[in-house]
Amino acid sequence: MLLNNPILLIALAAVAVLVVIVLLTRRRARRAATTASRSPGKAKGRAREPVAPPAVMSDEDQRILTSLGAMKARETAAPPPPPLPDLAPKSQAAITPRPIEPARPTFAPPIGGKIRILVVDDNKDTRDNVSRLIAFEQDMEVVGQAFNGKQAIDMAVQLQPHIVLMDINMPDMDGITATREMGVQAPYSQIIIMSVQFETDYMRAAMLAGARDYQTKPFSADELINCIRRVYDIGRPIYQKMEQAEQATRPGTEVAIAGPAPTDGLAAPVFMVYSPKGGSGKTAVAINLAVALRELVTPVALLDADLQLGDLPVDLNIRPKATVSELVASGRPDPELLSSVMQPHSSGISVVFAPQKPELMELITGNMMIQVARTLKSHSQALVVDTASYLTDHNLALMEVANDVLLVITPDLPSVKDAKLFLELAPDLGLRPERVGLVINRATMPGAIPAAQIEKALKLTRVFQIPDDPKLRLSLIKGVSVFQLDANAPSAQAFRQLAQAVWSNALEPVPAAEPAPPIR
Ligand SMILES: Nc1ncnc2c1ncn2[C@@H]1O[C@H](COP(=O)(O)OP(=O)(O)O)[C@@H](O)[C@H]1O
Ligand SMILES: [Mg+2]
Repeated sequence: MLLNNPILLIALAAVAVLVVIVLLTRRRARRAATTASRSPGKAKGRAREPVAPPAVMSDEDQRILTSLGAMKARETAAPPPPPLPDLAPKSQAAITPRPIEPARPTFAPPIGGKIRILVVDDNKDTRDNVSRLIAFEQDMEVVGQAFNGKQAIDMAVQLQPHIVLMDINMPDMDGITATREMGVQAPYSQIIIMSVQFETDYMRAAMLAGARDYQTKPFSADELINCIRRVYDIGRPIYQKMEQAEQATRPGTEVAIAGPAPTDGLAAPVFMVYSPKGGSGKTAVAINLAVALRELVTPVALLDADLQLGDLPVDLNIRPKATVSELVASGRPDPELLSSVMQPHSSGISVVFAPQKPELMELITGNMMIQVARTLKSHSQALVVDTASYLTDHNLALMEVANDVLLVITPDLPSVKDAKLFLELAPDLGLRPERVGLVINRATMPGAIPAAQIEKALKLTRVFQIPDDPKLRLSLIKGVSVFQLDANAPSAQAFRQLAQAVWSNALEPVPAAEPAPPIR
């Protein structure tokens, strides 16, 4: 019945045609899509659309995708540097991975390129992981890795990193000692301590030793990177100041400097006046040797390394404005500090005084004294060092840098015996007899053992004599050199001869290097 209705038949036919058209169109579209995915170049006139993420994505998926995107962006921006040499045995790492999309405070860009970083840890994995994290930062670079405090100090002196990331527990030299030493030897570098949670006491000690900040392991990459930027910003004025000072002291740079003029420095000889026996005349000899040397070269510096009971303020009648302590604390001193530490005396020499409180000696190490001597050497043409009688760490360190050790004795048995004992020990201290000159002080005093006998007993070839001279004693009471009191006094003449002899000896070529002393 329905088939007899023509209108209904036409309507059915139209529906059928429509269904066929729809089916054909969908089939063609499917075929085109398959062709395009097999050979992209053949998909004419249509750009490949990116694969859209599924309409519903879990939070975790979203996080991973964002993280991958962020990592990719960083990889293309800054390729990781070549691996640094392997310096220590492998062990466990203690770093957590970097979280996504860090929110960072803004910091000014580093002076002259990248923030240079030294990574110090006995754990190789930690060093590598930290270095890898830093490699992603375009404005930072790891300039070296060290596996203990000693190596860290050497590398910091050599590489001048802006930041040192320092572990605490390390063999040979721990991070606290290294931090303290770096304050003197590499004051340019600012230190961030890396430590595990339970080391809070150590961490406090490290901060007191001069560290700027700390990171508790395990730390995130962002915590570390932000900390580096923060500390770099704190250190910025120090970097600028030191870089300016460095430029000012470069030869040929016309910058006005207050205080003593820097010399070509490193060749300035160091004359260390030492005696194993107190009261032999070390201070009297040191003062007058320095003044006598000043007739040959200028400027001459006199350092009081009798750190506990230095006598120079009394014997030279000066009130110290600043002392070795300030020099040590400043690390690399600026010209202003140097001019207040190197105080001029009426005799024409500049004097660096010992700390004014005996307990302050405890804060000064032998290495610090070496650094002090180097600083003074580079700001004078000759450096004379007065010392304490004990073989302290300071004296042993100074013996390493001294060109000449002038062994002062009085011509009596106890003094000769002490000198003999010291000379027997000298080879163990890396001190060869050629570097020791014997000064027989008060050689003319009543009952003196003849110089020839002493010479024979002590088997030293360079022997000098200073007569017993009341004028020398008087000069010390007055706070002047014997030259100021009477330039022709017998002791003044003897000091002139001594100065000429040690000066010409210092100009002679230095013999081959000695092995490092085993003690210290
Ligand atoms: N050549 C000398 N003639 C006279 N008195 C001297 C001479 N050398 C030192 N003295 C006196 O001996 C004392 C000790 O000298 P000092 O230089 O302080 O010894 P040290 O520094 O070795 O302890 C001082 O009172 C000093 O005046
Ligand atoms: Mg003395």
